[in-house]
Amino acid sequence: MRSYSLIAPAKINLYLEIIGNRPDGYHELAMILQSIGLADQIDVHSISTDSIRVHCNHPQVPTDKSNLAYRAAELMAMQFPEAFAQYGGVEISINKQIPVAAGLAGGSTNAAAVLVGIDLLWKLGLTQPELEELGGTLGSDVPFCVAGGTAIATGRGDQLSPLPSLDNIYIVLGKYRSLEVSTPWAYKTYREQFGDSYRDSDNLAARANAVHSGAIVKAVLDKDAGEIAQKLHNDLERVVLPAYPQVLQLREVFANQEGVLGTMMSGSGPTVFALFESQQQAELVLLQVREAIIDKDLELFVTRTITHGIKVVSSV
Ligand code: C5P
Repeated sequence: MRSYSLIAPAKINLYLEIIGNRPDGYHELAMILQSIGLADQIDVHSISTDSIRVHCNHPQVPTDKSNLAYRAAELMAMQFPEAFAQYGGVEISINKQIPVAAGLAGGSTNAAAVLVGIDLLWKLGLTQPELEELGGTLGSDVPFCVAGGTAIATGRGDQLSPLPSLDNIYIVLGKYRSLEVSTPWAYKTYREQFGDSYRDSDNLAARANAVHSGAIVKAVLDKDAGEIAQKLHNDLERVVLPAYPQVLQLREVFANQEGVLGTMMSGSGPTVFALFESQQQAELVLLQVREAIIDKDLELFVTRTITHGIKVVSSV
């Protein structure tokens, strides 16, 4: 095969707790991550020159080394030089549907798809844990994007424990096109403002692992959408909402709509999501929010929880 097409789903954070400062400069996290139907399509092709090329339909997405998908291909070429020499270069086409810099792991899921696609192109036969480990060197969310579904994530966000899949919860996502939140800024600001409460804490991993016996994990195990929605949590809201009043307003508008089980910002934002029992309720609330906030800059999507990460849809 010289070409593979892959679906690269976005994720939302049902839970994000910042446990403390890690010695490597990152933050120890306790999260619950959920794959959603909103996805990019990634095509990977073998090409005869020994170069890596990235194309994207979205003008804001860089196509050079600053794109994580490019770095994923470069990592594979470095790790597997014989395969790179044998099969030649790689051309990567990204059909972007996931909003950029949105807290939805758009860049990370593209990188995960490139790892999976090149593994297939070069017939490397890597296992999922091997792909996740490679992904972890590119970014904290990449291992989850490879695996997908529903999972507890601790450490930098790269230590995964799968949970039973949630496949029947409907979601509305809201994102202002022109708003982007820098993830390093969000964590740095949180550390500056709230770091005193945990600065000298030890046993970070043990404290993060306490999430396993927490109320939201119980709700996920019970597949109880209403209870999950009551237990949504994101520490980064404490810094992002005050700095971005539009995001706070969107969250309040969601919270006031009938049928919304719960609402929260995803990751470092600025995307806000709301959970629903049915697609019909989600579609109705999307229309109501569109009427409540008359702003062409606001993008709204209806989607749902899904049970998979990167998926191959065709090969030629
Ligand atoms: O791992 P990734 O490159 O996606 O992380 C982006 C940024 O988010 C990091 O540079 C860091 O500033 C912040 N981060 C953090 N702690 C984590 C994950 C991310 O401080 N566990």
